[in-house]
Order: sequence, then C-alpha cells, then structure tokens
Amino acid sequence: MRIGVLTGGGDCPGLNAVIRAVVRKGVGVYGYEFVGIRDGWRGAIEGDVRPLGVPEVRGILPRGGTILGSSRTNPYKVDGAVDRIHATLSEHAVDALIAIGGEDTLGVARQLTGEGIRVVGVPKTIDNDLAATDYTFGFDTAVNIAMESVDRLHTTAESHHRAVIVEVMGRHAGWIALHAGLAGGANVILIPERPFDVDEVCDYVQTRFETHYSPILVVAEGAVPKEGTMTLAAGELDAFGHVRLGGIGQVLAEEIEKRTGKESRAVVLGHIQRGGTPTAFDRVLATRFGLHAIDAAHEGAFGRMVALRGTEIVQVSLAEATAELKTVPLARYAEAEVFFG
Ligand code: F6P
Repeated sequence: MRIGVLTGGGDCPGLNAVIRAVVRKGVGVYGYEFVGIRDGWRGAIEGDVRPLGVPEVRGILPRGGTILGSSRTNPYKVDGAVDRIHATLSEHAVDALIAIGGEDTLGVARQLTGEGIRVVGVPKTIDNDLAATDYTFGFDTAVNIAMESVDRLHTTAESHHRAVIVEVMGRHAGWIALHAGLAGGANVILIPERPFDVDEVCDYVQTRFETHYSPILVVAEGAVPKEGTMTLAAGELDAFGHVRLGGIGQVLAEEIEKRTGKESRAVVLGHIQRGGTPTAFDRVLATRFGLHAIDAAHEGAFGRMVALRGTEIVQVSLAEATAELKTVPLARYAEAEVFFG
C-alpha cells in the first residue's frame, strides 16, 4: 500500500512524533510506502506532495510543528476540490490517507470518506476539545507552557502590586485555562462554558489585594461576560467559519483597572502555547496514535479515527469523532472555584 500523510489545522507539538511512528511502523512492519502531502488539504487539492520515508523522519520526534506544513484550507470551500484530491491521489498512486488534525480536518476526512476516499484520522489539538478521545496530544505541552508562564507572572505581579490577566488559547473550550490555572494557582479562571460576572471578578481581585498578594487571572480566549455586562468586539471568520478569538484579556484588564483602581496588565500567550518541543506525555500519546493509525490502515479500518480511552488506544468512527465538542463540565469548573479570590 502507498499512503499519503497530511497535517491540517493549527499545528501542535507532537505532530512529528505521529508522522515518525506511522512511517517507522508502516515501512518496518508492513512494508508500505509513504508520501507527505504538504499543508493539509491544500496540498491534496494542489498536488503538492513530497517524499516521506524513514530518512525523512529521522530526528523529528522532539521537534515541534510539522515537517509537512499545515493550513486551514477547507476543500468544501474550493471549487472542484474533491475531484482534484482524487486526481492527486491517483497521480501519486496513493491508496489511502492518514489525516492528522482537529475537528475541521477530521470533519473533511469524514466527508471525503463518503466520496470514496480511504482515510484514517488521528486527533490533534492543543484545545483538547474532541469528545471522542480523553486527550489529544499538544494539550499537555500547551498547559505546561501556560503553567510556567503563570508561575513567572506571580513573581513579577507581586513585585509591582499589579493584577495580571493571562489570556490562553482553547477556542470555545476552557480546558487549557482550567488546567493551567489550577496547576499555576491562579486566583480566578474564566472559561467560555461559564459566562463571567465582571463585578464578581473584581471582588476576587480586591480580596486578593487585601491579603497582600497580587491576583493572577487565567482567561480563556473564548471566555465571555454575562450578557449585557461588557462589550466585546467581533472577530473575523476563517474558512471553517470559526471566529478568530483574542483580546478578552486586554478588555478585562482595562475593566478591572477602571473598577478597582488597581494597576492591571494583560499577557497574551498566543502561539507560544503551540510552539516548541512536546512534553513526554505528548510524545508518547502521539507515538501511540501513530502506531495504531497505521494498524488501522493495515486492517482497512477507513473512516475511523484512533482515540484514547483511559490508557487504551481504540478506534471510533470519524462521524462519532466530529459529532460534538468536548467542553468543560461545570462540576469540573466548580472544583477550581474553591481557590478563587
Ligand atoms: O485550535 C487551536 C488554536 O490554537 C486555538 O486555540 C486558537 O483559537 C486557534 O487555533 C488559533 O488559530 P490560528 O493559529 O489560525 O490563529
């Protein structure tokens, strides 16, 4: 079999570990050949294909990003894209695809399965918001980067008696904020699943200053105020119709400063959370996903995605994998609230 591998959507640490595991087991155990498809679905549409063998995957395990490149190209927004993908696959004699991506890339993989393309999916995203898998790789690295930033911000905030608002990624799920905030001892954590009351947030800030400590607030980029309490600007949409988030930290810092009279600064971690070397947890998870993805292709389990359930890697249908987002249950948020203020 000749298999095309692609990575789509926002990159995350661990993508290269998947590619390496797929190729090492695919060549070494099954005797398959591989090609790399550049920049996700863009390369599949445009026929942008590169060699991918054992020499190409040597040394990439600890490297962040993806050697194949990525994009947020949505073939269902490009005229004739499905026919062009079929043409690319037949021109390069590709029998099947391994698509490594999040909700959007895997949603396309599910639709292409319906068009007769043989695809196995591998879940990735720092947001950890895919319901079919307990964890996605990239999340642990992002949380550790955010936690370390919170640790560092505690000391500078104390020195200057400031409130610091740390804005983290996660789109419409608060997992990164919740885990980084808990691990870093944040005084307030705000997540999209639970619209916040700005008066309550200011009370927590005041209480923290009264105990002679400086508050650190971890805010998910998708956090929203309770209706009618604060105004937020609308962002642009990407090819999958997602709004480009960001900016809540600065808005909140200004509001807190205005209401409490305490100096407040916003820090946006942004793509730092997606860059650099993966943690051991993410390397192991990504490697196991890669090994099981090539097994799935060998078994002919197309239209399926590998997923983590407990400590086992299982297969789920791409339809199930993309059916719903995994958001933070309010009971999990309530655990963190004990430490607010
Ligand atoms: O889905 C991963 C993610 O990093 C989100 O947390 C964030 O909202 C988005 O991607 C940012 O996307 P981009 O890199 O395209 O700006």
